[in-house]
Amino acid sequence: MSDFPALPTGFTIGTATASYQVEGAVDEDGRGRSVWDTFCAEPGRIKNGETGETACDHYHRYAGDIALMKDAGFDAYRFSIAWPRVLPTGSGEVNAAGLDFYDRLVDELVAAGIAPAATLFHWDLPQALQDAGGWQSRETALRLADYAAIVGERLGDRVQMWMPLNEPMVVTMLGYATGLHAPGLQLGFEALPVAHHLLLGHGLAVQALRSAGCDSVGIASNHAPTWPASSSDADREAADLYDGLVNRLFADPVLTGAYPEGFAEAMPGPVDDDLRIISTPLDWYGINCYAPSLVGAPGGSPDGPAAVGGAPVPAGLPFEPRQIADHPTTDFGWPIVPSAMTEILVTFHERYGDALPPVYITESGCSFHDVVAADGGVHDERRVAYHREHLAAVATAIDTGVDVRGYFVWSLLDNFEWAEGYTERFGLVHVDFDSQVRTPKDSYRWFQQLIKARHP
Ligand code: GAL
Repeated sequence: MSDFPALPTGFTIGTATASYQVEGAVDEDGRGRSVWDTFCAEPGRIKNGETGETACDHYHRYAGDIALMKDAGFDAYRFSIAWPRVLPTGSGEVNAAGLDFYDRLVDELVAAGIAPAATLFHWDLPQALQDAGGWQSRETALRLADYAAIVGERLGDRVQMWMPLNEPMVVTMLGYATGLHAPGLQLGFEALPVAHHLLLGHGLAVQALRSAGCDSVGIASNHAPTWPASSSDADREAADLYDGLVNRLFADPVLTGAYPEGFAEAMPGPVDDDLRIISTPLDWYGINCYAPSLVGAPGGSPDGPAAVGGAPVPAGLPFEPRQIADHPTTDFGWPIVPSAMTEILVTFHERYGDALPPVYITESGCSFHDVVAADGGVHDERRVAYHREHLAAVATAIDTGVDVRGYFVWSLLDNFEWAEGYTERFGLVHVDFDSQVRTPKDSYRWFQQLIKARHP
């Protein structure tokens, strides 16, 4: 069908979720407490006071959810392992029941012909590790490696892609600098050591996974093109600084073994030996890409700074995110700019050259406030358009020489969208959070047809 973007043979099409956003069952089978349990219990943190206590009840309903993926024909499923299920206090004694859950999940995926892709840390840090300093402490990086070894040994024979980290930028900026995510600290630029410890944890975990026999290891890091608000020097400088903070700070050390200029000094040093670990070569690099950022010098816009990812931007920063005009937006207010997908891929290809391994889009997606219509369907044509156009943008990048191997839709299910609670719906499958009824949306059907056309 001409409606479908032309993607290479062997290109992986998958879906993605994360443990705290879908599993629920927070007190079951010996799971320990995570920073997100703590954060959600604090008044005013999450819209409508919602929590991940039940979420999509995926912990109990995973077999049905895998059947849905199988029916659509997805090649792969990117899920995350809840660290506090496996190690309730983050280290020490393994909770066998917790590890068994992921063993069953992985077996079910393999039986369905879906490649399991596992993230080790998608933000639900064991609370006990937070109490010992969280990512402000270097020790947490060592604990991530220990946990990686345990999980790698158990699941390494079946999991086909590994990601120690999801979006270290968001953990650093939203968790520790601005406080909009768990653990809710507002350290501003003092949060920079968190980035270093996350990156060190990544490098150590890559090595631990490899020692456990896992041979396809990457990362899921979020990146977006940063556009200067104008061609003035002040706006360009501000945009450069922003690009350094949200893109290069997290990609340069991993891909080139060096921090971008000016950042190494802010890290708990000396960092040279750590950088050698952080830059352990990856089998592939995962980019989560949603929307570009428009950035100018502070005070340059009469409307003040725009919210980023739904979150207000604190005052006093040396840059100012701006509202992107002339593009449609999702119901979350994020601009829809498919060309940004091509741009970030081409930028990475040009910036890192041979140091960039094959790339996967480990997340892309959009939130619309979908409802089940009178005819029983969910008619999310804007989500169909989003994915059609973003996949076409990936195809354009491939045509210009970027080696992109796959695309994971965020998300399989509507789920717990962090500080936004259940308001924002990213799923291909609608979830009624009272009844837990799943209703595949039109976008799910679109992927089903796309995949069928690819594997007739
Ligand atoms: C990413 C994150 C996901 C999901 C998505 C949509 O930043 O990895 O967990 O919430 O954004 O906002």
